[in-house]
Parts: sequence; structure tokens; C-alpha cells
Amino acid sequence: MGSAELANLAEALAANELIRGRFADRFEAQIAGYVGSRFGVGTNSGTAAIHTALMITGVEPGDEVLITTLTFIAPANAIAYCGARPVFVDVAAHNWQMDAEAARRFCEDECRFDGERLINRTTGRPVTAIVLVHFLGMPADVEAFQALAERYNLILIEDAAQALGTRFGPRMVGGFGRVGCYSFYGNKLITAGGGGMLVTNEPALAERARYLINQAKDDPVETLHRAIGYNYRMTNIHGAIGCAQFDRIDHHVARKRRIAERYREALSDQPGITLPEEPADQFWTFWLTCIRIDPDLFGLEARQLLRHLGEQGVETLPLYQPLHLSEAHAGAGRVGGGVAESLHAQVLTLPSSISLDEGDQDRVIDLVVAAGRRARADRGARAALTP
Ligand SMILES: Cc1ncc(COP(=O)(O)O)c(C=O)c1O
Repeated sequence: MGSAELANLAEALAANELIRGRFADRFEAQIAGYVGSRFGVGTNSGTAAIHTALMITGVEPGDEVLITTLTFIAPANAIAYCGARPVFVDVAAHNWQMDAEAARRFCEDECRFDGERLINRTTGRPVTAIVLVHFLGMPADVEAFQALAERYNLILIEDAAQALGTRFGPRMVGGFGRVGCYSFYGNKLITAGGGGMLVTNEPALAERARYLINQAKDDPVETLHRAIGYNYRMTNIHGAIGCAQFDRIDHHVARKRRIAERYREALSDQPGITLPEEPADQFWTFWLTCIRIDPDLFGLEARQLLRHLGEQGVETLPLYQPLHLSEAHAGAGRVGGGVAESLHAQVLTLPSSISLDEGDQDRVIDLVVAAGRRARADRGARAALTP
């Protein structure tokens, strides 16, 4: 937060524009313009944006929705809010995103398609949508999922909460599906102190979203409602912070990329450490930089390293528990899951905040390198003593 956020907040408060107001409107236009979509509709969270996206595109109770098993739980919960059922699909080993090939095989082998609807043969339920999460600032395989959605008449919704600014080819993610969703929670690339947004090119969807997030008001004077609405709108206070942050978005992206580059330079040749590689035709924002640790080569398990770094005051985190293992979604469908489970065991996210200075980052790097070296030396010494 800086002086621009304070100035915008002071202006919003002085104008008494707390709920609706110029900043929220401007922020919607800025984000939609940035990602190349016609309409932006601000919400009070990314989760609310995804829930709204599912409702306006017609996902219904009893439907099944394909989603990666390796993500924060919010988009899966949004599916459940609709009374629909997530089907958790494993990730591909090369990019950690929902495995397009596994999803295609599920549709082809486990479902039947009658030309209009895809039906899961085992459950008898219709599979109607894909929530395509772009995980950790890297893009999912958008083109493959667009093709799958087209082939089987599935609604494609993108969850780009972690990937604002990430590009697949020349285009920003979030702009490929019928609806794209973003989050401005405090840990995101830019924050509005919470809040979210959905973007779409379809005027009818934008209008329906605005209606639902504003309590489904059917009359400007009387309180008449034909539908059950939600109190999901973005406030002007969110907008005031968001607009100030938006002005620095290029700087935030550059910082994230520089942090990732420095980790890569220092760690990619360490035994047992690998980092995801950005292909030439993609542009990643590296929301979080992660390392994958092969314990046999590195000398320590990922969680041993996590504990060691924690004792030195360095916070690293494991990836999310794969959702096919989550009690919250017990009984949901799944397609594989082994790759996600091994990533969950082996990956750590490193400190990646844009405020991380180079000195602190060097300290993180030195601690990681030294921990591996020491563990391998200890292992060597133990092996030498074994008769
Ligand atoms: C992938 C993903 N989707 C959705 C959300 C939900 O966003 P919010 O916290 O703004 O509700 C988050 C994170 O917060 C997320 O990481």
C-alpha cells in the first residue's frame, strides 16, 4: 500500500461514495481492458465471481463440473454452492495444470455424448462445465480445453485468480472462456483489500451477473425480486484501492518475474531441485515461485526443508492438499490424482512477495543451498560409517 491508495481512499470517503462509485466503475473498466474483455463486473471476492460465473452460464444442481484437483479450494466450493458436483482431474506433470489429456479420456471413455449433453456413465449425471484454473501464475492448457468444451458442449469458465497478467500465446488468461474470474485478495498480484471480478464478452452474461450480485432487484423503487440474488457486489472502497494498485501492475509483474529469475539462476542447478520452465510462447507472472524437491538427490524431503527454513524465520509453504483427498469434497468424482499427490509431497513455494528485497532473497537461497549440502554431506558420512 502506498500514497496513491491513501489518496484514492480519502477521495472516496470525502465524496461519501462507499458502496457504489467512480473507483469501482473505473476498476472494472481497467481490468476488463487489461485482459482484453468487453465487460468487467466487480464482486466482493474471487469466490463470489466464480459462483456468479457458474450461475449465469447455467450450471445447475446435480451437474458435474471438471476442475483440477490441485488448486485452492475456493473454485471447488463455488461449484458446490450451485448444488453441482466437482470432478477432480489430475494435473499434467509438465505444467502442474489440469491434465487436458486425462480430461479428454474421461469425456470419451467414461461418458456418453448424445450430441447435446455429456452424461457420466457411472453416475448418470450430466457433465456441463469446466472450471479451468490457471495455477500459480502459469497458464493452463487453454486451447486443449477450448477444443474439449466445443466438442462436448461444455461451458468453459476460467479461474485466473492466481494468474492476472499471465499470457497464453499473445492473449491474457481469463479472456478465453465464456467468463473469466479474478481475485484481489491481499496475497494476489494486485489487491483491492479483498474483492474479485468476472469478465466476459457477452452483454447478457454481464447484465445477469450485475443483477444477481445486487440482490436481484427488479424495480428501482419497490423491493421486488423475481430471483434469489446475492450481496456480492464490489464496493467503491475496494475500487479505490484497486485503481491505485492497477497503476502499478506492470511493476508488480516485473518484480515477480525478477524474483523468479533470481531463484532460477541460483537454484536450478542444485541437485534435486527443479523449477517450472516458462515456454517461449507463454508469459508467466510467477505469482509464487516454487521448487520441486527430489529428496533422494537433494538430501531432504520438502517438508523437512520447510521446517528447517521455518526455524530460520523463512516462511515457505507446501502446495494445497489435492482436492480429491479433501474431506470437504468427500464423494466427489475424480480422474487420477497421482501426479498432484507427488507434487503435494515435493513442492514448496518460496517467499515471492513483491516487497522481498534482494538481500532477503539471497538469504533464502543461501539457506536452501546450505541445507541440501549439509544433508547430503551427513548422508555421505553416515554411509561411510556403515559397515
Ligand atoms: C485459484 C483461486 N481461485 C479462487 C480464489 C478465491 O478468491 P477470493 O479469496 O478472492 O475469494 C483464490 C484465492 O484466494 C484462488 O487462489
